[in-house]
Amino acid sequence: MRILVVGSGGREHAIVRALSGEPGNSLHAAPGNPGIAELADIHPDTAAAPDQILALARKLGAGLVVIGPEAPLVAGAADALREAGISCFGPSAAAAMIEGSKSFAKQVMTEAGIPTAASFTCRTSGEADAALNSFGPPYVVKDDALAAGKGVLVTGDLEAARAHARACGTVVIEEFLDGPEVSLFAVCDGTTAVPLLPAQDFKRAHDGDSGPNTGGMGAYAPLPWAPAGLAEQAMTAVIRPALDALRRRGTPYQGLLYAGLSLTAAGLRVVEFNARFGDPETQVVLDRLATPLAPLLAAAAAGDLTGAAALEWRPGAAVTVVLAAEGYPEHPVKGGTIKIMTTERVANSYLLHAGTTTGPDGTLVSAGGRVLNAVGSGPGIAAARAAAYALAATVDLRGGWYRHDIAAREA
Ligand code: AMP
Ligand code: GLY
Repeated sequence: MRILVVGSGGREHAIVRALSGEPGNSLHAAPGNPGIAELADIHPDTAAAPDQILALARKLGAGLVVIGPEAPLVAGAADALREAGISCFGPSAAAAMIEGSKSFAKQVMTEAGIPTAASFTCRTSGEADAALNSFGPPYVVKDDALAAGKGVLVTGDLEAARAHARACGTVVIEEFLDGPEVSLFAVCDGTTAVPLLPAQDFKRAHDGDSGPNTGGMGAYAPLPWAPAGLAEQAMTAVIRPALDALRRRGTPYQGLLYAGLSLTAAGLRVVEFNARFGDPETQVVLDRLATPLAPLLAAAAAGDLTGAAALEWRPGAAVTVVLAAEGYPEHPVKGGTIKIMTTERVANSYLLHAGTTTGPDGTLVSAGGRVLNAVGSGPGIAAARAAAYALAATVDLRGGWYRHDIAAREA
């Protein structure tokens, strides 16, 4: 099958890598990155706009388009493709609002009886003050709109919480959820869904979960501490009710539904929904997937998962460590030369490109805040983690850095 993967990050590199290991796939990526270019034909000049994605898919005769990031989904790329009769793995703009608007997500959860943090949607500073007062610290203030991972502030500082609410305009202010977080991905066909392996992400920039929230600094799967049956519990309490509610609204959800869960003392609660694969959790989840990915995504895109093969997972574990640019997440420095010391290969590991490009002289340079992912695997988390860190140490980027404690406690 000819497959076009839209996006240019570590998540898309992981998707292309999984697809490239399966016979019969002819792979394209737009815009792609230099790492993806080793596995697929890339189209660096194609922007994320729906009409450009549609034009490229038509030109290639793509049998399936897989959309990685949220922006093209919220902009209607999946709608444009489906209207043109092209199979697409990714929700419509209306269904992607589950990520595009925090208040919409809360409405769907209320309607469907999905457990989540109590919240208020606030449009004025007076409403925000009242909500902050009623919950007390720690304060959780979320920009209602998409904010590329920068919309959420969790803080004990009332003045900082008030300032964030003022800066965002419409915000959702909610109860603080105290529990370990789990990322659960479900492949959805509009009516039914198949869960992937639960994973955990490290959202804060620095060791010991300090510093600002980021897109994610590392991840691991599986979760040795998770209660048995967690994925099935989340399917029953969260994923299926969400799919039913969206279908009743006339906006069936076809694509990847990402539930960010908090396992609180009072039970499982939804922290957020995303309309796409998580980054960097996808890097570890797909590393463990033994079942071919292309037929699974194609079946979901065709609206019928009933015939899809039951998923099998490779034994063992995977860990990924994100190599970030100097200044990430506030002001990432771009354009730094990346050198990868390839003289000694690190066993059971590989690099995925996240924010890289090719410089004028053909060298590899950084082009984003999260630059590379070092992925390691092994019979357990300790071995996977050792492989990922050994590989990360072979990368040379001025000012580049990573967290040292990804999956440390779990190992
Ligand atoms: P979100 O974009 O909604 O996932 O928020 C980003 C991160 O902020 C989450 O992964 C959590 O670590 C944290 N967060 C969001 N909402 C809450 C909450 N209600 N309680 C505690 N932490 C939260
Ligand atoms: N790693 C979190 C996300 O993809 O939103």
